[in-house]
Amino acid sequence: MSDKITKKYTSEELAAMSNDELARLGTELDDVTVAYRKQRFPMDNDPEEKRAARSVGLWFLLGAVFAIAFIAVYLFWPWKYKGLGEDGLWLYSLYTPLFGACMGLAILCLGIGAVKFTKKFIPEEISVQRRHDGPSDEVDQKTLVALLNDSWETSTLGRRKVLKGIMGTGAVAAGLALIFPIGGMIKNPWKPKAKGMDVQGDGTLWTTGWTPTEKGKKVYLGRDTGVTAEKHEGGYEATGETYETRGVTRLVRLRPEDLNAGAMETVFPLLEDVVNDHDKYDKNADVYEAHMESIHGSRNSVMLIRLRHSDAKRAIQRKGQEDFHFGDYYAYSKICTHIGCPTSLYEQQTNRILCPCHQSQFDALHYGKPVFGPAARPLPQLPIAVDDEGFLYAKGNFVESVGPAFWERRS
Ligand code: FES
Repeated sequence: MSDKITKKYTSEELAAMSNDELARLGTELDDVTVAYRKQRFPMDNDPEEKRAARSVGLWFLLGAVFAIAFIAVYLFWPWKYKGLGEDGLWLYSLYTPLFGACMGLAILCLGIGAVKFTKKFIPEEISVQRRHDGPSDEVDQKTLVALLNDSWETSTLGRRKVLKGIMGTGAVAAGLALIFPIGGMIKNPWKPKAKGMDVQGDGTLWTTGWTPTEKGKKVYLGRDTGVTAEKHEGGYEATGETYETRGVTRLVRLRPEDLNAGAMETVFPLLEDVVNDHDKYDKNADVYEAHMESIHGSRNSVMLIRLRHSDAKRAIQRKGQEDFHFGDYYAYSKICTHIGCPTSLYEQQTNRILCPCHQSQFDALHYGKPVFGPAARPLPQLPIAVDDEGFLYAKGNFVESVGPAFWERRS
């Protein structure tokens, strides 16, 4: 506060002062000396002022248009991935650049508008202030408000309704453009996956690739062969090469005898429609992408364990899940019930399944129950059986959701 002004103002005195008086007092209290001040347009109805207002308004309008364009691109532009040679690749490839261009231009136009407004309408002023320490007292607070009011009035924005509207529109549109992309992260976890199948959820939280979506359609336990699509010359114009996926089978069906006693293998859901192995192999079938989708599904991996027969005799079944295993074969979700790491380690001697992230241990002989570490729930067990051809398949869905806890999980 100023050293020169020592008078203490009462609340009544402050309330009785006009805004101008308070603003002036404020500058004095803050040791501010206004050395020079000049209104940009001192005369009313100056045509130059109207031109300046139009020019500023135009920049804010452009800012709003680009921000709205950003939202429109987000909502309506074709965004689904297109591979080389596919129809619509050109439009799809513009998706991300358009986001950048629209948002960049919106911010640029709003910025130019703000700079122009300041240069055209805020009074030219040179003020000098001395620094001082300590908290502000009541008089400082009141006068600061008055100074802000004064700035608002001298900026002439208060009486420029059209410009105010355009600036507001630009700011709101830019704000919406920033907020809109968050919408893509929000999903409805209760949206039914398939009608009539009593499946809860759309794949987020409630379901996995093992969740049946069509009545009577089998989901096999798929072994990952590690085979990849081959690169060939003479393909798409753009690169001169292509990947041949026809006849490439990444997941194959498993028979119980494919696994030794005491072994564990990670398996993935293999839908009946995309089986392409053994007697069903067709060199022209194109199932590679469907197999890769299954492998990449974040809740799809399942540990198929073949217990040693002597151990299997000691296994304890969970109530209601007594028939989930097939002989010595047990299938547990690989997703840790602590915070979702893959529980990749099976220790044959102790029949424990270990999660490397925080050292939770689950007992494979005791329906995947946690016996050590932070995990509090058993690994969900997948009910399995063998079909007429001798292949292992899931005879139902998991009876609880896979992975860590969330707000509505019942188990
Ligand atoms: S995620 Fe498995 S113990 Fe933490």
